[in-house]
Amino acid sequence: MNEPKFGKNFIFGAATSAYQIEGSPAADGKGLSVWDVFCHTQDTVYNHDDGDRACDSYLRWREDVELLASLGADAYRFSVSWPRVLPEGAGKPNPKGLDYYKKLCDALLEKGVRPCVTLYHWDMPYALSLKGGLMNRDFAGRFADYAAVVARELGDRVSLYFTFNEPESIVGAGYCYGAFAPGCKFGDRGSFPAVHNLLLAHGDAARILKDMGKEVGAVCSGPAPYPADEKDGELVRLVEKQLASPEFVWSTPNIFDPIFLGDYSAEFYAKYRKEAERTIKQGDLARIAGNTDYCCINHYSGYPVIRKGEGLEKLRRPSGSPLMANGWDVDEKGIYWTLKFLYGRYKKPLMLTENGMDCHDIPSSDGVHDAARIDYFRRFLTQLNRAAADGADIRAYFAWSLLDNFEWLAGYSSRFGLVYVDAQTCNRIPKDSFYYLQRIFSDRNK
Ligand code: NOJ
Repeated sequence: MNEPKFGKNFIFGAATSAYQIEGSPAADGKGLSVWDVFCHTQDTVYNHDDGDRACDSYLRWREDVELLASLGADAYRFSVSWPRVLPEGAGKPNPKGLDYYKKLCDALLEKGVRPCVTLYHWDMPYALSLKGGLMNRDFAGRFADYAAVVARELGDRVSLYFTFNEPESIVGAGYCYGAFAPGCKFGDRGSFPAVHNLLLAHGDAARILKDMGKEVGAVCSGPAPYPADEKDGELVRLVEKQLASPEFVWSTPNIFDPIFLGDYSAEFYAKYRKEAERTIKQGDLARIAGNTDYCCINHYSGYPVIRKGEGLEKLRRPSGSPLMANGWDVDEKGIYWTLKFLYGRYKKPLMLTENGMDCHDIPSSDGVHDAARIDYFRRFLTQLNRAAADGADIRAYFAWSLLDNFEWLAGYSSRFGLVYVDAQTCNRIPKDSFYYLQRIFSDRNK
């Protein structure tokens, strides 16, 4: 088997997020997050699951560190829970909450695993949500203060910070159509202030982090069309146009353009003129731009498109094409085109900050045999190699996820982990894909 190969300096790791793994929602003075409230008040999470226990990582973090060390990970991308650190979102920091992350980082560093912190993986302090959350322009100041507290307290332990994980999900699902916490349904145009305030928050925090000598990444996700026929030049052009299009207020270019290019695109202003006039104030764009080192993308699945008239149409996949357990297509070709597009447009070092597969994993007497997930990783890493060979500067790859965890609306019915987690006991069993990535990670140095 021809396995994908990587250079010595390439960063390999795994990712998680606080609400999805930590549990202990009220321990040591933690405040409520919007997801704590959402899970206990809405009827939409599968089986009425919640993150109250999750993977119990607030108590079992030592096991997680051991797993990362045994995986041979260079880095661990995890998120800090804002309400653990600042229970009310602002004001006096909670030393016990901070101690948890300090201990975690120290243990990681001792094992040679670099801690990389996501500051916002969806668990906004409920107290701030009651003040309008992302719709409130003051949010930016609160976020910047929080970033400063975390960076100051974690000090030299952490050198790389990601600000917001997937603005598309935060605003699209959280403020536009309301499927995720806080469950607001302001519609596409109505949720533009949330996008813009998020960008102001990113910009203010990034400036502070850079002044403290840190590196900063911005993380998006988004649809990944690719040309069904790569030799069709016109089709390739249309795919690139599609990738650059401001389809919704929260679409990836509307996030990365202001950060990396200094402004929203002309297409954005043409489509959202009124929203822009109402929301964007003098000096805002300068606050948002610059200070961001890495253009980061979370990616799970792409889809082929063909030409239709002047535009594009999704190509119907043949019946029986491979699907993940949650119904997402297993289709790796989009990542090549996404990485190529992002590098061409922003010319910034790239990181693939999440990539993984949901499978129906069932433990057998001799382990968890997830052959489909191994094949998935092989396919995606091969595409990543291809984009790198074509000149994209890709610095890191984080598998999603280290652990089976609380998968938002799918609760515990969904398993993305390299490590199987028994939802009742929280016992952890590395799956075959864990050992596969362990080999890929270690082969890189040969
Ligand atoms: C992206 C999100 O960042 C993560 O929280 C989620 O679990 C995965 N996608 C899988 O849906």
